[in-house]
Amino acid sequence: MQTQQECLKLQGTIKIPKVGFGTYLIQDEDAPSLVHQAICAGYRHVDTAEAYGNEKGVGLGIESALEELGISREEIFVTTKLWPGNEAWGQAPKTFESTIESLQASLARLRLDYIDLYLIHAPFAQLQRLVQWNALIELRRQERVRAIGVSNFNVDHIEQIKAAGLPLPDANQIELHPWSQKPDLVSYLAENDITIIAYSSLVPLSRWRDVEGQASAKTEQMKADGAAADSPFKAMAKKYGKSEAQVLLRWGIQNGYAVLPKSTNAERMRQNIDLFGFELDDEDMAAIAKMDRGEGVAWSTGDPTK
Ligand SMILES: NC(=O)c1ccc[n+]([C@@H]2O[C@H](COP(=O)([O-])OP(=O)(O)OC[C@H]3O[C@@H](n4cnc5c(N)ncnc54)[C@H](OP(=O)(O)O)[C@@H]3O)[C@@H](O)[C@H]2O)c1
Repeated sequence: MQTQQECLKLQGTIKIPKVGFGTYLIQDEDAPSLVHQAICAGYRHVDTAEAYGNEKGVGLGIESALEELGISREEIFVTTKLWPGNEAWGQAPKTFESTIESLQASLARLRLDYIDLYLIHAPFAQLQRLVQWNALIELRRQERVRAIGVSNFNVDHIEQIKAAGLPLPDANQIELHPWSQKPDLVSYLAENDITIIAYSSLVPLSRWRDVEGQASAKTEQMKADGAAADSPFKAMAKKYGKSEAQVLLRWGIQNGYAVLPKSTNAERMRQNIDLFGFELDDEDMAAIAKMDRGEGVAWSTGDPTK
């Protein structure tokens, strides 16, 4: 069991473990046992969101694991996300006040008194984006959250924050894997000291979200490619004596990203955190660099950056 996790830093000071447990598509009723299991397996970073509908279960899982392991709240890094509202889907964008209230509601569901990292889930609220960002700045000032950031923001969205003279996000959580590498955005984030958190690292696996109703229509071809006998990740996995999932997650770690594997299976959970005893060589990193196919596929409801 790995408990001393390697970390990145937010704002150069706040430690964020490089591997977090992803919880999207984990039902609220399953979250208590799965999050408990993940923390007992060594995860010290958990990623949830208001929109996942599982904060209550995630909070119960954290609480019971802390109790079982006899460790303190400070040893777990918890991220949750503001659902910003999306006019295009008939939702009112959150205002300054409703953003503050949303954080309060997340804290209550999670049964926590602070969040380590609070993110705006997507840049949907075009006119209220800066208002929501100002509310996150206020929440950090009040120490209800330790760090603040965004998710699915592109360069223009972050430039808007910069142009307004506001502090930049501590992190941006974006879809990143060999088939969606976003080199311009990644360079921009690095230049601006914005920590990169990669999600959906496992898209190239043929079994990624391979459950009725979970796959996005955009993943059909990718699944076929992932399943192909000559998949380059299969060959790499064999070469390093690791699983394909470990190769994909290790690629993210070597690029300097935090990663957020989600699994409902104990053995896969364990594998996904065991990423520090091997290294992809330069030849494989160079081969993967050539596999970029452009934009991501994880959102089935349209491009979250629009
Ligand atoms: N900010 C955003 O907009 C956003 C969007 C998407 C995701 N996220 C975050 O990032 C997390 C991860 O992304 P994700 O949930 O899209 O997918 P992911 O972690 O890349 O992949 C999960 C899929 O891979 C399977 N899997 C996991 N480990 C495996 C292994 N070792 N071998 C084979 N299959 C494996 C899982 O099945 P089993 O469960 O059966 O193992 C599931 O089907 C989310 O849970 C969420 O916290 C954020």
